Amino acid sequence: MTHTLASEEELPLRKIVRPLIKLARIAYIQGTTIVKLLPSERAIQLYYKIRRKSYDLQWAMDPGYRKGLTRLIDMVVEENDRVLDVGCGTGSATVMAAAKARHVMGIDLSPDMIELAEEKVAKYSLTNCDLAASSVEDYSPKESFDKVLSSFMIPHVKPALRPAIYSYMYRFLKPGGLIGLFGSRGEVCEVYETREQVVENLTGAGFQDIEIHDIYDIYRIALARRPLDH
Ligand SMILES: C[S@@+](CC[C@H](N)C(=O)[O-])C[C@H]1O[C@@H](n2cnc3c(N)ncnc32)[C@H](O)[C@@H]1O
Repeated sequence: MTHTLASEEELPLRKIVRPLIKLARIAYIQGTTIVKLLPSERAIQLYYKIRRKSYDLQWAMDPGYRKGLTRLIDMVVEENDRVLDVGCGTGSATVMAAAKARHVMGIDLSPDMIELAEEKVAKYSLTNCDLAASSVEDYSPKESFDKVLSSFMIPHVKPALRPAIYSYMYRFLKPGGLIGLFGSRGEVCEVYETREQVVENLTGAGFQDIEIHDIYDIYRIALARRPLDH
């Protein structure tokens, strides 16, 4: 048995086990509040230098994370897309998107996480991925993207700076392009955005057609479009 939290669809004692799974997820996600204590880019890089080896293992314990990412990719990525994965970490979303898209670019502030993403891309023999160690703020792509993905990066951004980060993502997109965000919920853990904050921050950056999907107790997918005429 490799997962401590079994998939809810497979459980015989679902009614008893479901609330326990929910409690475990809430307890785990509240632990991620620790990222609030990281005051600078350097601190984030140091944090992931230490955490990188256990990073994928921690998420592997909850199938909800992987299913959530799969749903995000299903909702956002299409065959001919050029996709940017912002704060790609060890490349989980990058490689999933690459199985579907024309090309995926993954960027991350942490060179250590990018190293692991490179290993993952090599492991799956993907030839349509590129990776770069860069912050969102320093990244300046030559071409814009059809889709921008970002999973669990926003809690690292101070609340006041989130609209600016979404503005970068807006500029990375072609007019008409779609952003897909995956993370947890401010209603469950304070370092994430509440529903209202997601809408406010994305609207402030110029996005339209915002959709929010709450899934698997603690997770949230948000989709929004850069208007065609801007
Ligand atoms: C919680 S991890 C998520 C990684 C991956 N997206 C996932 O879902 O597994 C957050 C990642 O965001 C990166 N990050 C934080 N601030 C960033 C920034 N300003 N620009 C680019 N990456 C950033 C961190 O280095 C880290 O790898």
